[in-house]
Amino acid sequence: MVARLIDGKQVALQVTEEVKREVAGLKVKPCLDVVLVGDNPASQTYVRMKTKKAEELGIVSHSHVLPSTTTQQELEQLIKKLNSSRDVHGILVQLPLPKHLNEQKIISLISPEKDVDGFHPVNMGKLLRGEKGLLPCTPNGVMSLLDSTGVSLEGKHAVVIGRSNIVGKPTAVLLLSKNCTVTVCHSKSKLEEHCPRADILVAAIGKAKMIGASLIKQGAIVIDVGTNKGADGKLVGDVDFDAVKSKASFITPVPGGVGPMTVAFLMRNTLEACKAQLAK
Ligand code: GUN
Repeated sequence: MVARLIDGKQVALQVTEEVKREVAGLKVKPCLDVVLVGDNPASQTYVRMKTKKAEELGIVSHSHVLPSTTTQQELEQLIKKLNSSRDVHGILVQLPLPKHLNEQKIISLISPEKDVDGFHPVNMGKLLRGEKGLLPCTPNGVMSLLDSTGVSLEGKHAVVIGRSNIVGKPTAVLLLSKNCTVTVCHSKSKLEEHCPRADILVAAIGKAKMIGASLIKQGAIVIDVGTNKGADGKLVGDVDFDAVKSKASFITPVPGGVGPMTVAFLMRNTLEACKAQLAK
């Protein structure tokens, strides 16, 4: 068997086309403010991709590019200003922040209704409790890719590798809400024990080609969240795609899998945040 490719670009396009249609019908244009501190090249690329996509869809976007010497107080002042501006519907602080800044404190300061990343404790709490709130974009994208396969998730054993607040933990909670049995693995886990039992494997580790064929159950669905730089400077996932594709039933490529979904759901969250604020 050779795995079918899950086309993230195509699924993301369906999401963004719908956002574009809805935005066109609104009286007020949604507005996303993106904050970038320092000069991390990957972060610069991500921010550029996000603001470009916003503009394509009719969403207004502002970039606030601050030097790496920005103080906690200065950044907090900016967040407070954006919180109180009625014209701003979504606020995104690109992570990681420079080491001297308190990331958790900054995230907690963003108004939960403008927290389009879904990282605020209120939104994470709602997710855990199964209440409606802004969902983190990458986990939401992973679920949408799984949905696109048409395979029922109910009763399946899902293994998530990685326990970050941004990807691993929220993805595990969303899989649980779809009635999967969920195992969360991390750097101390015995991967060779858990992974071969996964009907659904989500890799969010951050190590190039860590997951080889021996860790894959025949017919598993494999979602690769990894974005690592390969030896030749190209983007490579956490999964050894060429080795795994003959064993999986479905697999996401890198690039063109999860990446476009993250941006698509950020646009969707900005639209939803805008609509909720206009309705108040
Ligand atoms: N850094 C890596 N992923 C993300 C993300 O989804 N949002 C933000 N703000 N920063 C990130």
